[in-house]
Amino acid sequence: MVETSGTTIVAADHPSLDDQVAQFVTALRDEPRFFGPSARSNPKPFPSLLSELQQRDGFRLAAMVDGRVVGLVRVSGSGDVHIAVVAERRGQRIGVGLLSAAIERAGRLDHRRLTLRSSQGSRAVRRLGDALGCTTVGYARGRVDLILPVPRHVNAASA
Ligand SMILES: CC(C)(COP(=O)(O)OP(=O)(O)OC[C@H]1O[C@@H](n2cnc3c(N)ncnc32)[C@H](O)[C@@H]1OP(=O)(O)O)[C@@H](O)C(=O)NCCC(=O)NCCS
Repeated sequence: MVETSGTTIVAADHPSLDDQVAQFVTALRDEPRFFGPSARSNPKPFPSLLSELQQRDGFRLAAMVDGRVVGLVRVSGSGDVHIAVVAERRGQRIGVGLLSAAIERAGRLDHRRLTLRSSQGSRAVRRLGDALGCTTVGYARGRVDLILPVPRHVNAASA
């Protein structure tokens, strides 16, 4: 468990958190969708992201504030990352905190790198990757993969 400025990061797969995780996914699903340039750079979570966040392959970490899940990251067994924060808590460093915790946990599980797949338009995702030293790989139709290194010392420390 990691705690920073009122946000606690916990393992999300304990059954006691199932209701909280379900409420979190509902909040993301009910988010209003906006249109125009600002919406393109701040896209609403896609249904495919919600589906990925609900799967249990790999591991999941949740960011909790006042007993409520406000952010969730899932790292699949193959090292793919899916992450979301509820709309009213974005821009408060919760995403960076969750992703940092996921990288640390991934190191203990012997991952060497994680991959976050995104549309090129999401400024938040790109900034998130930049904050954690990612390499960006661009593909057709504006899609990008952010490759997040898992530091070797993290792997070595848990060996
Ligand atoms: C992507 C997401 C998880 C980021 O979480 P967050 O808690 O808002 O991010 P943080 O507050 O930790 O910010 C991380 C960086 O992104 C920047 N950022 C956050 N939101 C931003 C926005 N809307 N526009 C531009 N930059 C933004 C922050 O300034 C910060 O950059 P910095 O380190 O240079 O200051 C969140 O925006 C989200 O849930 N988006 C919808 C779902 C999604 O797109 N998920 C990713 C698909 S896998």
